[in-house]
Amino acid sequence: MKVSDLRGILAYIPGFREKTFVIALDGAIIADDNFANLLIDLAVLRSLNIRLVLVHGAAHQLRELSQQAGVPVSNADGTGITDEETLKIALTAANRITHEVLEGLASNDLRACYTNAIIAHPFGIVGGVDRLYTGRVERVDTEFLNQLLEKGVIPVIAPLGFDGEGHTFRVNSDGVAMEVAEALKATKLIYVTEHAAFTHDGEHLSQISVSEAEEFFKKHKGDIPGHLVSKLEHSIRACRNGVSRVHVIDGRVDEALLTEIFSTEGIGTMIYANEYQAVRRALKKDVQAIRNLIRESVEQEEIVKRTRLDIVQHLADYYVFQIDGKVVGCVALHVQPDGELAEIACLSVSNANENMGIGQKLMLFAEDAARHRGVKRIFLLSTRAFNYFQQKGNYKEGSINELPPARRERYEASGRNSKILIKALGGHELHLTKTASL
Ligand code: ARG
Repeated sequence: MKVSDLRGILAYIPGFREKTFVIALDGAIIADDNFANLLIDLAVLRSLNIRLVLVHGAAHQLRELSQQAGVPVSNADGTGITDEETLKIALTAANRITHEVLEGLASNDLRACYTNAIIAHPFGIVGGVDRLYTGRVERVDTEFLNQLLEKGVIPVIAPLGFDGEGHTFRVNSDGVAMEVAEALKATKLIYVTEHAAFTHDGEHLSQISVSEAEEFFKKHKGDIPGHLVSKLEHSIRACRNGVSRVHVIDGRVDEALLTEIFSTEGIGTMIYANEYQAVRRALKKDVQAIRNLIRESVEQEEIVKRTRLDIVQHLADYYVFQIDGKVVGCVALHVQPDGELAEIACLSVSNANENMGIGQKLMLFAEDAARHRGVKRIFLLSTRAFNYFQQKGNYKEGSINELPPARRERYEASGRNSKILIKALGGHELHLTKTASL
């Protein structure tokens, strides 16, 4: 880790301190080798005074127990029918896991306790079929959970609900975590799974707004792997009901939890209720961030060196891409004196935030800004990234004669021999308002 990474990490801390995070652990993750590391990460979160609630699943252990005993279960994940035998096995599985979680927390000097905060009723008869001991969450005893949280205790919640009359029901842990997060008005709900997070067309899905998630869910419900369907469904519901960010991460990866929480790019998939990233005009306070961003590209001769003064003098031409208040990308749009032609320059995205589509968003934004100002053609000079611009931006190779005289002179004087890429700004479709907050 570089010391400069620490700035980014520390920037998140004030916003998370004293906030409540609900962490949902799949049963399989508790059985995974990486669980010991996860516990260490939980201790880090507690040391920052983040209030933690742990909800765990039991499906994995339930299946194991059922196999060992040779007793088939009617349903493993608390969504189908729970018959009496299955409930018995579920109780044994859940209690063992709770114990393991408590033991693991104790080994990390964390105070925790098992709770009976989920008040549940029978799920009932669906389509003529009685779900028997499968329950639905009726209420979450938030007063109890808050008392524990006030005292710095981590409440541990099993996928079991109590009806207050001597009955216990099997409930689905994804649903419990969602209900608890909503009831406690948690800042975050984090599903820690034993699978790689969401992908789309083979690409990792890093963040997605709740409305995009709903659309994605409708379109791809059939192709999303079963275990992720429930995560996505509950994430959407939690987001719609007041939890601003829900994360789904692969708990088998060391440091996944901390990376997700303390970096702008995260590691899993984040479903968010409120916009948190945007392109905006650069301000004087961004100048250093811009210089830091482009440093590497300048060294590699992709971007022309700019002094502080160069940037300050043309500050009105610069835009920055910001995530959680941190500048992670920039672009400049220099409109040429004739007003018809403009240059896109200085396009850069921090290494950590590559492959999130930020470069393309900045390019589109600059093009829209140009269109807005009546620019007809746009060009850029590139020594290394010309393929990128040709593929993502539809730029075509142009000739030096297409540059205005003053720019041509500077081009020649620079000796850089960059490729000249150019395109007409067809259409007047304005993405501007759409991309203003992405
Ligand atoms: N660290 C920030 C948070 O916890 C942002 C995480 C972004 N994660 C992602 N998968 N894109 O809210």
